[in-house]
Amino acid sequence: MKVSIVGAGYVGLVTGGCLADLGHQVICIDNDAKKVATLNAAGLPIYEPGLQELMARNRAEGRIHFTTDMAQAVEHGEVIFIAVGTPSQEDGSADLQHVLAVASQIGRHLKKFKVIVNKSTVPVGTAYRVQKCLQDELDKRGISDSLFEVISNPEFLKEGAAIKDFMHPDRIVIGLDDSPNYKTVHQKMELLYSSFNRHHARTIWMGVRSAELTKYAANAMLATRISFMNEIANLSDLLGADIDSIRRGIGADQRIGHDFLYAGTGYGGSCFPKDTRALIQTALDCGSQMKVVTAVENVNDQQKTLLVSRLVQHFGEDFSGLKFAVWGLAFKPNTDDMREAPSRVIIQELLKRGAHVSAFDPLVSKEGSEAVALDTKNKDVMSRFNMAESAYEAAQQADALLVVTEWKTFHHPDFEALKACMNQAFILDGRNLYDPHMLEELGIAYQGIGRRNQLALNFKAGRHLRKLEETST
Ligand SMILES: NC(=O)c1ccc[n+]([C@@H]2O[C@H](COP(=O)([O-])OP(=O)(O)OC[C@H]3O[C@@H](n4cnc5c(N)ncnc54)[C@H](O)[C@@H]3O)[C@@H](O)[C@H]2O)c1
Repeated sequence: MKVSIVGAGYVGLVTGGCLADLGHQVICIDNDAKKVATLNAAGLPIYEPGLQELMARNRAEGRIHFTTDMAQAVEHGEVIFIAVGTPSQEDGSADLQHVLAVASQIGRHLKKFKVIVNKSTVPVGTAYRVQKCLQDELDKRGISDSLFEVISNPEFLKEGAAIKDFMHPDRIVIGLDDSPNYKTVHQKMELLYSSFNRHHARTIWMGVRSAELTKYAANAMLATRISFMNEIANLSDLLGADIDSIRRGIGADQRIGHDFLYAGTGYGGSCFPKDTRALIQTALDCGSQMKVVTAVENVNDQQKTLLVSRLVQHFGEDFSGLKFAVWGLAFKPNTDDMREAPSRVIIQELLKRGAHVSAFDPLVSKEGSEAVALDTKNKDVMSRFNMAESAYEAAQQADALLVVTEWKTFHHPDFEALKACMNQAFILDGRNLYDPHMLEELGIAYQGIGRRNQLALNFKAGRHLRKLEETST
């Protein structure tokens, strides 16, 4: 089938590459000419494991092409995906300017019937707005024929495992409302995704509004699990319990499952923060409230500063003269995406308190400096920040090491070498990678998340525990 994809970002490129790999004829269009030039020169504007090989294979077979020409893309695709960004606006709602601009651009070039598929994460009602933009353009040209159907097909891939997620979906959600085109559109989408439905039907059909809301509900549910575990972890610290044992203890319950139960420095990335915010705003627009999701967001905001609060407890409010190493800048391993990464909040807090910061990330280097500079907006402050060439270079003379992203390369460091090169052997493990007992034996001060760190630090918790012990004897 001939498919066009508007937006050559993480979602658009993975969708395009994977559909081409299934044999479809794909054109990816982006209005960023630099990105398209990179793609046409056999490069990639983003990092995603396996994508380079996938693209090379399909370029060589002539199944995927890249362009900035909307007329060509609209002419080509029977199905046209919209996969452009929907960032947060000031009030938290989703900014639909890119989606609606694309709809108008498509409308200007429509000559025959096309299925327009919203793959971007968009609030309920967006399909209707896209439809209106398309129709307005047709009206301007005096075309009254029904030349399109707008449907919703939210994307559930995870950066870092995007190709696997796309090629082995748990489900494909398609929102399609009743219309004279229903049968045609249903058939086209069935055909497009037929490779995924051979073993058993993975496509879940529903109305457009339900599909739009399904995406937000899924992300809000996953964010809730993370914030919930972070709260339990923080309580574990106070009570002398161990979050890792608790995680295994509750994950074994099949109703709960093991995924998304890891405590850490909070969630980030291009989806959870903006999607929870947009969901909260949608409810407010309806005169309602998302109380759970609002709490999830508040817990997450606090969790991002947890490691810095620990440093304040240890070193005091002023970090002047101290140097901290930060391992991991990307919001999670196997991606170069730094959008809303916890590392950015942590680094800003450290710099604000006068510290020197040396950071290392296996993938993000130049982009890391650029993101920190963007947040800092001050050359003098930036002079206290540097990107190191290696994890050990970052740790040189550091007064503490903060592990923020769980890249595999950080799983088994040479602790003796770290101890020897650091000014103070102190590790704040924001991803619970290390064995607290082993580090204690090595003479390295250690704090994880929810691993009995703060007993001595909280008077109320100490008194509560002593009371418990007294009543049990
Ligand atoms: N990144 C993820 O993991 C993920 C997962 C599921 C869903 N989503 C959703 O998918 C959508 C896209 O996300 P992304 O991470 O791929 O974004 P992205 O920022 O990586 O890519 C968006 C692309 O759209 C292009 N673009 C913007 N306006 C355009 C226009 N008028 N014409 C042509 N191209 C245009 C941009 O240049 C950019 O290359 C968002 O709504 C996001 O919430 C993202």
